[in-house]
Amino acid sequence: MAVITEIEDLKRIYERRVPRMFYDYVETGSWTGQTFANNSSDFDKIHLKQRVAVDMTNRSTATKMIGEDVAMPVALAPVGLTGMQNADGEIKAARAAEKFGVPFTLSTMSICSIEDVAEHTTKPFWFQVYTLKDDDFMKRLFDRARAAKCSAIMVTVDLQLLGQRHKDLKNGLSAPPKLTVKSISNMMTKVRWGLGMLGTKRRFFGNIVGHAEGVDDPSSLATWTNKSFDQSLDWDRIRQFKKMWGGKMIVKGIMDADDAKKALNVGADAIIVSNHGGRQLDGALSSIRALPAILDAVGDKIEVHIDSGIRSGQDVIKSVAMGATGTYIGRAYVYGLGAMGEPGVTKTLEVIHKELDMTMALCGHRNLNDVSRDILYVPRGFSGDWE
Ligand code: GLV
Repeated sequence: MAVITEIEDLKRIYERRVPRMFYDYVETGSWTGQTFANNSSDFDKIHLKQRVAVDMTNRSTATKMIGEDVAMPVALAPVGLTGMQNADGEIKAARAAEKFGVPFTLSTMSICSIEDVAEHTTKPFWFQVYTLKDDDFMKRLFDRARAAKCSAIMVTVDLQLLGQRHKDLKNGLSAPPKLTVKSISNMMTKVRWGLGMLGTKRRFFGNIVGHAEGVDDPSSLATWTNKSFDQSLDWDRIRQFKKMWGGKMIVKGIMDADDAKKALNVGADAIIVSNHGGRQLDGALSSIRALPAILDAVGDKIEVHIDSGIRSGQDVIKSVAMGATGTYIGRAYVYGLGAMGEPGVTKTLEVIHKELDMTMALCGHRNLNDVSRDILYVPRGFSGDWE
């Protein structure tokens, strides 16, 4: 058994074990993939300040996100089709998150349904919604999330239309996979994955099939998004969602200071600085570069979280030191899940926690809540000096 010490180890096993179609779905950005790449590489431009001879006993990375206690400020981001990476993937990821003490966010585009995840977990999770035209479906989604005792909804605002990812189109991405010569010959080499899938009945979009009207092709993400997503979305509609839900609302997909103020005005409890992991607007700034201007605009009034590009505990501490209250991992936990199921997600969280904790100590801190921008060297002009 390979010794796993870093997220890259899990990614290598993941790549071997999961059908190419689902690996490609995760490991891509839209169009040229520039923003997808910059999201990670921009973290490398920020350096850390080593401090010595500071007591590093009794350390804690515990903090809060939207008022909830977290063992570290790293939530699991909503990821579509997670149950295709490993059988019953959403349930496994939610259980690993719950045991570790970090939030899990279920995607609307999940394979396991809201009810299914609630039945197999004991703590409230967060539920992500897209902005859809069908009001009845939205109301039912909120009712279902309420019945499942979700403690927050996360409204994705950057996906009125689906960014083009070349590989998904070329692979004919679907859940379950369409049987073609190419997909069958690839799946035949993924025995462990296949046995898992044969052993579960959860192989379709569990929140949609049987719940939404007019789903012509229940296996295709692209067909459903094209038809159902609300391209006329505006801030009043997001305000309505807050009313319809009546609880905490996290708005995901903010890259601009004015949009951050608008999210605040419609009643968001937190925003996520996010470019959707580089999967929507290719050419957008990386999230970490967009963060400072947004913090300047709303950071004293609302929690500002960040996702996109976070693959290590060092990325987490850099985000926190810049001023983010919380971070999210998507790909990093999917690597663990695809590699090893629930223990793989736990491994992802352990790796990231260890990196975060040790980095904090070597920067001279024992408590993550005391970490500030003082531990960073941020290059002059990092956030941009734009015309
Ligand atoms: C869906 O949100 C995706 O990025 O594929």
